[in-house]
Amino acid sequence: MASVKIIDLVLRGKATHSYDPPLYMPTYSKLCLEPSQISCNSMNSSRISLRPFKLSDANDFLKWASDDKVTRYLRWNTITSREEALTYIEKLATHPWRQSICLDDQSIGYVSVKPEQGDDMCRAHVSYVVSAEYCGQGIATVALRMAMCRVFRELPCLVRIEALVEVENKGSQRVLEKVGFLKEGLLRKYGYCKGEIRDMFIYSFLSTDKIM
Ligand SMILES: CC(C)(COP(=O)(O)OP(=O)(O)OC[C@H]1O[C@@H](n2cnc3c(N)ncnc32)[C@H](O)[C@@H]1OP(=O)(O)O)[C@@H](O)C(=O)NCCC(=O)NCCS
Repeated sequence: MASVKIIDLVLRGKATHSYDPPLYMPTYSKLCLEPSQISCNSMNSSRISLRPFKLSDANDFLKWASDDKVTRYLRWNTITSREEALTYIEKLATHPWRQSICLDDQSIGYVSVKPEQGDDMCRAHVSYVVSAEYCGQGIATVALRMAMCRVFRELPCLVRIEALVEVENKGSQRVLEKVGFLKEGLLRKYGYCKGEIRDMFIYSFLSTDKIM
């Protein structure tokens, strides 16, 4: 619990979320891989890490967040300035589980696991982004595996992680399937993205599932 709050304190100096000890302690995924055990398509996976965002990531953040190709499937809009990048980083840093995906400690994307509140704390929503420059090298898959391992350890009340993916977003669906998420179904006209209401697939991963 302490580590969650320390991360939260990094940029803000105050915690905005607290995780009370759960009444129900589920068994989390039996297969929790260490970073060295996580394989990657074409590069040494030890180059990939997750860490909290730092204000000094602003230029790297701006590189991918200013790319329409990258933000196409995201709820938020493409950004255009370093100031906007700093504002986003401050916002991202208010939650301990919005982590920077790094290659050799350079920020190239993010993975976010956002738990629901109150009685729904058993459930969290996951999303991720990798800079277009680094796509297709297995990085999102490795980062998601790392995030899943850590988040089930750090948030013991978490039982289910879910992801919503637009039907057209084949790359993201593939990432989820490679990690072991189950496609549960199609949610028709589920939500707005970039001004259009979209059909989305819902995927889930339970704490007792095996990370692939
Ligand atoms: C989706 C995204 C995270 C993938 O990142 P990545 O680092 O390239 O992912 P990986 O390399 O780990 O895996 C991608 C897989 O999708 C496959 N893929 C990519 N585009 C595809 C397409 N159009 N059709 C089918 N498969 C596709 C790749 O071949 C790869 O599978 P493989 O390893 O079996 O060959 C990245 O493209 C991205 O950030 N996109 C924009 C943001 C986004 O869509 N986020 C998800 C919101 S739900």
